[in-house]
Amino acid sequence: MKVGDLIMDKNYKNLDCNEIVPQVVVLKMSYLFMINYNYLIVDHVNNQSVIIDPAWEMEKIDQALATTQTSLSGILLTHSHPDHTHLAKPLAAKYHCPILMSKEEIETSGFYAQQLIGIDETPRKVGNILIQPILTPGHTPGSICYLIGDNLFTGDTLFAEGCGMCPDVQAAHTMWASLEQIKIRLKPETLVFPGHNYGKLPGQKFSFLLKDNIYLQFKNENDFAKYRLRKGQNILRFFDFC
Ligand SMILES: [Fe+2]
Repeated sequence: MKVGDLIMDKNYKNLDCNEIVPQVVVLKMSYLFMINYNYLIVDHVNNQSVIIDPAWEMEKIDQALATTQTSLSGILLTHSHPDHTHLAKPLAAKYHCPILMSKEEIETSGFYAQQLIGIDETPRKVGNILIQPILTPGHTPGSICYLIGDNLFTGDTLFAEGCGMCPDVQAAHTMWASLEQIKIRLKPETLVFPGHNYGKLPGQKFSFLLKDNIYLQFKNENDFAKYRLRKGQNILRFFDFC
């Protein structure tokens, strides 16, 4: 069976990347006070990579591609905030590859790039790497996570220590529903790679987050929204979590 023939079940628990087991290369990027994590997903069978949310330090990405001896076949964006998209356009131009973002995020943010492709939750291959997008609105209206093998790339939707900021009650309710979906659809052993960390290294098991992350403990959207929007948070950190 080829990778392209794989069949997904509704709960995405049978995602089988077949012969390709992607390697995750963690790239810590910084600019002024901001620190972001970019992830290069490496297919050593076909010598191709895709990158998640590239920002700030082009030379680190070039170096990672050289070290892994791969070519960049795609750019996956979790949402449109500048600290997650900063290098998407120059990278796409440099490596002649597509940029993926959810259709909802494109429509609501106005983000544009010549190589931009609007996506939904349909599984797709980028190069030969099988990608399962999971829509997780809340932090932004079109936020999306990417499940690749047993790794979930969450942008600002879910951190090891928390979840992304939400602008209002409706968005917080939406975020709660997105996190509930993740709970249903992920395997406990899935590794979670967020856009930022606040003490815990990227790549924690989802089973750990289920016990340790307070934002995964709320039983209803109203209690979740009250806590997510509580007073006294630093709004200067709107782009991440607080
Ligand atoms: Fe963000």
